[in-house]
Amino acid sequence: MAKEVKTIGVLTSGGDAPGMNAAIRAVVRSAIAKGLKVKGVQKGYNGLLNEEIIDLSARDVSDTIARGGTVLYTARCAEFRTEEGQARGAEVCRKHGIDGMVVIGGDGSFAGAQKLSHHGINTIGLPGTIDLDIACTEYTIGFDTAVNTAMEAIDKVRDTSTSHERCSIIEVMGRNAGYIALWCGIANGAEDILLPETYDYDEQKLINNIIANRKRGKKHHIIINAEGIGHSTSMARRIEAATGVETRATILGHMQRGGSPTCKDRVYASMMGAYAVDLLCQNKTNRVVGYRNGEFCDFDIDEALAMKKVIPQYWVDVAKQLSI
Ligand code: ADP
Ligand code: F6P
Repeated sequence: MAKEVKTIGVLTSGGDAPGMNAAIRAVVRSAIAKGLKVKGVQKGYNGLLNEEIIDLSARDVSDTIARGGTVLYTARCAEFRTEEGQARGAEVCRKHGIDGMVVIGGDGSFAGAQKLSHHGINTIGLPGTIDLDIACTEYTIGFDTAVNTAMEAIDKVRDTSTSHERCSIIEVMGRNAGYIALWCGIANGAEDILLPETYDYDEQKLINNIIANRKRGKKHHIIINAEGIGHSTSMARRIEAATGVETRATILGHMQRGGSPTCKDRVYASMMGAYAVDLLCQNKTNRVVGYRNGEFCDFDIDEALAMKKVIPQYWVDVAKQLSI
């Protein structure tokens, strides 16, 4: 018979995301409410291997739900990609009495969670990334805050771009995914949105569009460029030379990852944290929590990692139509 989980560990891994604290708080408090103990593993898998592990009480997570970043800190850990690192990580869990682990992070962190699970530690992943690049879920912790932060910043760039009748290329985060770019492109009314999933690197098309829009009387031209394409500064130089329209590049960078989480991120992260504890209490392992069709749900990590996320073409088409 499967043994009952008594102590839950929780860690954050990979890039931080606003709402991770809400998820940690929910794990801690729902576990305590069920009579379990909770240990916080600091600095992701690095902290696990270095045994940077602390007891967490309900009071330890007071005043954290509104804070950006992660109170457990986060890191990337090359050693955990090795079989030895993973086996040692599971040993450390056993040494500290951790029989269930909640890993909050992205796809990479889930690959680590999968390995911990294979080494006998019941492990559940929560999707924590601003990139929204996890295929099994329509929601990831931090995306809502990040797109709102980026949207507000882009509004400001747009003001000055209009005043100077300039073209502005604004680069947003997202690693290899274009979700932040697509959402900001629609929300900020961009003239062009460059997504790694669809961009054909035909700069002449952009140049023609800028010239055509000038003729139509547009005062600015906002291009949202995804980080996965990058090179915004050199692109701006080439576009200015080809169009004669003053062009500036702005790379929003890490400010998109910080700040107090939105209501949606606080609430969904809280629900997901509680859901992860429920799964552990049902003796489940190797699962990742998602949100689909209006409901929280869970998937086998192996299946979740094999899924492919695509940018919906309809969204891209609508964004283009609305930019005329
Ligand atoms: P994210 O979780 O945001 O996708 P990373 O891809 O940087 O971020 O992964 C975070 C950490 O997860 C890595 O530093 C590493 O410790 C662990 N990890 C990533 N891929 C694997 C893997 N294939 N096996 C084991 N651990 C992994
Ligand atoms: O995955 C989140 C993310 O912010 C990506 O959008 C970006 O590519 C990456 O992390 C940046 O990582 P770092 O903080 O290591 O520069």
